[in-house]
Amino acid sequence: MATITRWARPIALLGVGLAIVTLLVAWTEVRAERRAVREEVQHRAEALAERLRGNLEAQLRHGSLDQLPAIVEQLSTRERLAGLAVYDAGGSRLAMSSALVASLGGEPTSALSECGRQGQACGEFVESSVGNLYAYSEPLQGEWAPAGRLTTYLNASSRASTGAQIWRAALSTVVPQVLLIVLVLGLVVESTILRPIGSFASWLKDVRIGRATPPPGSAHSGFLKPISSEIAGLAHSLAAARVAAEGEARLREAGDSLWTQERLSVAMRDRLLGSRLFVVSNREPYEHVRRGRGIEVIVPPSGLVTALEPVLCACDGTWIAHGSGDADQEATDRGSRLRVPPTQPRYTLRRVWLTKAEVDGYYYGFANEGLWPLCHIAYTRPLFRAGDWANYQRVNQKFARAVLEEVRNESQPFLLIQDYHLALLPRLIKEQRPDARIALFWHIPWPNPEAFGICPWQQELLDGLLGADLIGFHIQAHCDNFLETVDRSLECRVEWERFAVSRRQHSTIVRPHPISVALPEPSRAAGVFAPLQEPATTRRALGVNGGFLGVGVDRIDYTKGIVERFRAIERFLEKHASYRGRFTFLQIGAPSRVSIARYRDLIVEVEAEADRINRRFQDERWRPITLITKQHSHQEITPLYRAADLCLVTSLHDGTNLVAKEFVSSRDDEGGVLVLSQFAGASRELRDALLINPYDIEQMADTIRTALEMSPDERRTRMRRMRRTVRNRNVYRWAADLISDLAEVCPEQVEVSAAQ
Ligand code: G6P
Repeated sequence: MATITRWARPIALLGVGLAIVTLLVAWTEVRAERRAVREEVQHRAEALAERLRGNLEAQLRHGSLDQLPAIVEQLSTRERLAGLAVYDAGGSRLAMSSALVASLGGEPTSALSECGRQGQACGEFVESSVGNLYAYSEPLQGEWAPAGRLTTYLNASSRASTGAQIWRAALSTVVPQVLLIVLVLGLVVESTILRPIGSFASWLKDVRIGRATPPPGSAHSGFLKPISSEIAGLAHSLAAARVAAEGEARLREAGDSLWTQERLSVAMRDRLLGSRLFVVSNREPYEHVRRGRGIEVIVPPSGLVTALEPVLCACDGTWIAHGSGDADQEATDRGSRLRVPPTQPRYTLRRVWLTKAEVDGYYYGFANEGLWPLCHIAYTRPLFRAGDWANYQRVNQKFARAVLEEVRNESQPFLLIQDYHLALLPRLIKEQRPDARIALFWHIPWPNPEAFGICPWQQELLDGLLGADLIGFHIQAHCDNFLETVDRSLECRVEWERFAVSRRQHSTIVRPHPISVALPEPSRAAGVFAPLQEPATTRRALGVNGGFLGVGVDRIDYTKGIVERFRAIERFLEKHASYRGRFTFLQIGAPSRVSIARYRDLIVEVEAEADRINRRFQDERWRPITLITKQHSHQEITPLYRAADLCLVTSLHDGTNLVAKEFVSSRDDEGGVLVLSQFAGASRELRDALLINPYDIEQMADTIRTALEMSPDERRTRMRRMRRTVRNRNVYRWAADLISDLAEVCPEQVEVSAAQ
């Protein structure tokens, strides 16, 4: 209402302005019209006077003045004049036509008398009882001197009516015109400005008071569009700041156990000792991919990406990774760099370009057909090819060059190298930059020495890894396996009491650092822009109305135990027929590494298995398994987690498994049951999950039932405890601990030339 009042005044002013302008125009027109009429009537009067003058002058000079009134009367009628009057030289009236006497009722005005006295011609408008008259007075010449004066009166009423007509016409157009303009303007302002601004303002108000509502439609188009994304960013920061402040408050409550993004940023400034943080991984956090004519940015399905993104955002470091998107080159500058996240840049991404042959050999071949199955005990045979190994070495060197370029101007840079793709990188960097502090985090399991020993290049890999100052694994068992492997295969000293390896005057410490997710980070803040769908709505959309919903979210990988999970569901429905028609399992499977035959075959196998089980149990309204083989974003997955009664994580072997932690982190309602493989590293921390052996189909089937029939109290207690664990050991703590450990190592004090 106040906004409308505010706009009413300028619109009314505009109306008044328009009226004034139109009236001014009308006034000017009336004046011009008057001038034209005057000129025209004066012209006529002069011409008439000219015609009559001779006759009257002769009469004055030679005739009898007694006849003058009759002549005047006659001339007046003949020329269709309003009247005629003749005066002598002294200004006394000699004759005046009778009509004029009646209508004028007196003598002409003083102005006419005055100009008559001066012997000049002049004219003026005069009012009479028959209307407006124009009186024109002119001297009459005698023999030697002026003999008198003639005044002719012409009808000039048309002048008055023209003026009135103009005013009437002006007013009759001005009023509706102004009203119309004000109305149209009012409607336009209301629909294009007032209403969008109103909804925009109430959205901002919601954001300000921390209510998660989506921006109004008007924010995406029209004149508000340019500022809406800026405001959206501001709103996001505001929401994040609010959550951070809440986190800080909780932090004070809970002593020092809680880590937040802000706490990490502050802590990093101390712990990085003035250096910058560089993260290196094969997988990049954002891929630019071509979609039709446009370019889309996607976040690849990778636990590593999920975990590291918040750390980079907190520290504004540089992430060096393989530019794998087909439009990646177009999105980077000449130094192959860009700022990300695209919507709210917080850190630098440096892309490393690889050829197809390199990707085939290093990534698909050695890393994913060799090391991946080697480290995951999932009974897929590792394949080692010399050509792949050569590419693996070449690509590690390529990454080393990119890293050395990035850290060129940094003294004692902190490097966090990620995973099994880059095992040779620590040594390659250390040789060039002994001052660099290098940690390598191995995101997958490390098998026992016998299993690892089948790799033909195990010594080279171990030597490469031991270039690091710190090697991190998710759990202690992987640290132990690693130290035993090193002990058995390299000439070195393993110090078991401090979990370190010394080799060639260099010491590497080995520590468990279970990676995690960002709880209590702003799941709510993210909701500022896309409020989370209500669980009931999600369930309705999935067709699970009164029944139960289970969910699984994985890359389609043979280590994840997806087929085993489906078989457990089949067995559960076999054993507990009452759940048929009432239990639906939603499996989100992101296709992964599809250039490898084993992965392609697995997609076919997973689909066939779901299909077989569905055909066995389904009826016209229900089928037990909904399989969606498509990558989903975090925003899409979170509502599914929140709507589920249980989440199945049935990995045959897994470093930690972040899906388990994401599920827990999304359940702020303290509902839902986590069924978790005992072979996933996360099982060491999430003790309140229902632990299963994914090879034991019978046990899994029974556990599904236990989960569905668990009392709400027990469910809440378990979830609350797991949430406390994830909150306390979140990814900020992981990064802080890892970097603190790294800050404590003393890198070799070697002068580093700026040219390196
Ligand atoms: C695991 C690995 C990550 C990898 C992710 C996805 O979590 O530890 O390094 O990024 O799988 O696999 P991809 O091959 O698609 O990167």
